[in-house]
Amino acid sequence: MSEQAQGPLTAKKTVLGVSGGIASYKSIDLARLLVLDGAEVRTVLTQSAASFVQPLPFEVLTGMTPIQRMFPVEGGGFTGDMPHISLSDSADLIIIAPATANIIGKFAQGVGDDFLSTLLLSARPPVLVAPAMNPRMWASPAVQENVAALRARGHLVMEPGVGRMARAEEGTGRGRMPEPGEILLAARAILLPNPDLAGMKLVVTAGPTRERWDAVRYLSNRSSGKMGFALASEAAGRGADVVLVSGPAALADPSGARVVRVESAAEMYEAVKNEWADAHALVMAAAVADYRPVDPSARKRKKGEGPLAVELERTTDILAELGTDKGSRILIGFAAETDEVLERAKEKLARKGLDFIVANRVSGDEDAMGADASRAWIIDESETEELPVLEKGVLAGRILDRLAKMWQNISN
Ligand code: CTP
Repeated sequence: MSEQAQGPLTAKKTVLGVSGGIASYKSIDLARLLVLDGAEVRTVLTQSAASFVQPLPFEVLTGMTPIQRMFPVEGGGFTGDMPHISLSDSADLIIIAPATANIIGKFAQGVGDDFLSTLLLSARPPVLVAPAMNPRMWASPAVQENVAALRARGHLVMEPGVGRMARAEEGTGRGRMPEPGEILLAARAILLPNPDLAGMKLVVTAGPTRERWDAVRYLSNRSSGKMGFALASEAAGRGADVVLVSGPAALADPSGARVVRVESAAEMYEAVKNEWADAHALVMAAAVADYRPVDPSARKRKKGEGPLAVELERTTDILAELGTDKGSRILIGFAAETDEVLERAKEKLARKGLDFIVANRVSGDEDAMGADASRAWIIDESETEELPVLEKGVLAGRILDRLAKMWQNISN
């Protein structure tokens, strides 16, 4: 990444300490997310981390050579005569991800026998620790006592996740490193004590809706829900009180958001209306069905029954409906189009009384539906901002930057 990205963590100096475990490769993604957020990232690799990951990806992503040895220290960056001391002095936050039982033990007991452990000896709290280890090790009294000691000193030790272990025979249990996105949110919560969406109640919708035709069949669309879930989790990390109203989506609840699962457009309308009364903003990222079968059957229809034509009726246009009595609340829509993307999005912006709309293409090479990344345009009354192809989590951040600006004007 050649150019320094601008984001919520712009100008923040972070140290990413990577210890050695199978989760070490995930810290490459964490480095990438921190850089995309605007942070300066200095990586420190322990000797065993270097058995799992190469320094090069970190160097390419962060623009700085990872520190690997106590003597001599490689690379420049913000190090001085006593590099472990000056680095911990100049860092706004030290993150250890993954943190093995070994580095947690050394940190808790004050052992300094390599660069990372020595750095931690002089670190000011809170250090953000993302543990990753075998569940039996995590549950052991020794590790739990060390974790308790670190927490008592003001450090933030995240709970590891539950899931399948790297080696299938070890089964499932608590010990997985928290996902890089969750670690980023925890880092933001430490580094940005006054998050820019604090005080806002935000309703986000996500996913497709399903309109039943009979007991086993329905009309739906290809929406995965990834965009809405990313918005909900980012917004929660930025201090908003988030309610996520989601149609059927195979995604886990985002941390920090209240989730209401619905099926049909009618259920989504009801759920959104219930939350809208005391909300400050709504982002309609859901791909709501425009039509539903007029006469759904509770039974499974038989082949011989006919007729083959399914009669459809309109669903409520949730955005347009709420737009009629919006007051000072903020309404944001999405426009997923196959052609004339900008013209159609602008038409919807005006017709639905929106503050801004996010336009995507849903055909060809840049098909946004179901994808992890997409190209988008953010359009309001006065301008059209074209964004590059961005991962949905990053795009969510850009959309929320706009929302935060509007929120600052309203709440001040
Ligand atoms: N939307 C809604 N309720 C509906 C349909 C859509 O609130 N019943 C919202 C979507 O969540 C999205 C925006 O309206 O934020 C635009 O959705 P889209 O389906 O593209 O627009 P439509 O108004 O349905 O227009 P058309 O289908 O003609 O393109």
